[in-house]
Amino acid sequence: MDTKLNNDIPLIETKNLKKYFKVSSGWLHAVDNINLKVYSGSTIGVVGESGCGKSTLGRTILRLIEPTSGDILYNGENIVNYRKKQMREMRRRMQIIFQDPYSSINPRMSVAEIIAEPMLVNKSLPSKEAIYNRAARLMDTVGLARRLSNAYPHELDGGRRQRIGVARALSLQPEFIVCDEPVSALDVSIQAQILNLLMDLQEEMNLTYMFVTHDLSVVKHISDEIMVMYLGQCIEKANTEELFTNPLHPYTRALLSSIPVPTIEMRHKEIKVIRGEVASPIDPLPGCRFAARCDYFTEECSIEDPELRDMGEEHYVACIKVSELEEVI
Ligand SMILES: Nc1ncnc2c1ncn2[C@@H]1O[C@H](COP(=O)(O)OP(=O)(O)O)[C@@H](O)[C@H]1O
Ligand SMILES: [Mg+2]
Repeated sequence: MDTKLNNDIPLIETKNLKKYFKVSSGWLHAVDNINLKVYSGSTIGVVGESGCGKSTLGRTILRLIEPTSGDILYNGENIVNYRKKQMREMRRRMQIIFQDPYSSINPRMSVAEIIAEPMLVNKSLPSKEAIYNRAARLMDTVGLARRLSNAYPHELDGGRRQRIGVARALSLQPEFIVCDEPVSALDVSIQAQILNLLMDLQEEMNLTYMFVTHDLSVVKHISDEIMVMYLGQCIEKANTEELFTNPLHPYTRALLSSIPVPTIEMRHKEIKVIRGEVASPIDPLPGCRFAARCDYFTEECSIEDPELRDMGEEHYVACIKVSELEEVI
């Protein structure tokens, strides 16, 4: 693949991307027809309740999970059929930061070893010494004191542990990083530090992020664009300011009104509570998947899946009632 980035085309694009899992009672539609574009140096926030498919989407784009169907374009090139050897190079360019990076890491590894490991595996520098020197510089980059090199992650607080995760993700100089709930386990004050770190690094290194979270308030400052997911589908997508000031989907409105922050311009709007249970993601029937919980539901909502409609200014919403809703609220 051409290693030069072309800023006129998205760094990441998915076309009708699907990931269905076979389960005993049928097919679980974890990711159902996702189309997105993320340009180099920007951040897409992916938001929705637990179980809506955010992690599966991130992992499928990285091909840590194989898609059921659809395309994944990286810098314009379809990587869906890339073989092992080609994917090895892609793996370097695409990284992931987890909520809890230590579930998969040997607890007896020190901070420096954890950061150095991807470089050792990839032989990204000619000597061990060079790799450990780079690990030390990465510790500086993410704000970890070098005296912690020989510490073990369980000895550190959550914020420092996540800085190790960030340093490790940066170690192979990636272009694209899926940040999967990276601050969800942290105290609010520490969350802000990690978000600021991620934003500073993005600017310095021209990184592209997919930032996955169940908490809309977290993505407000970091995202250029936000995609709201519900049961595997994208139900609304817009640039961040537009989404926060002019949410259209009843589900997005409910999510926004549940954020206890007074600065959101929602005060004139009614506080919505999301009632009822999420429907099953297994072999879902046609029609809007939010229908059973929606205040505006009528029979026609159950006929077919609502299309993502272009509302202008790159604001898309999947709700057939959207024109009526604008009058209601
Ligand atoms: N390996 C798997 N096998 C079967 N179902 C899965 C698997 N991984 C995820 N799922 C299901 O896919 C849906 C989406 O999960 P996930 O992507 O983890 O959601 P989120 O990250 O938004 O919480 C859930 O219903 C989950 O139970
Ligand atoms: Mg998840």
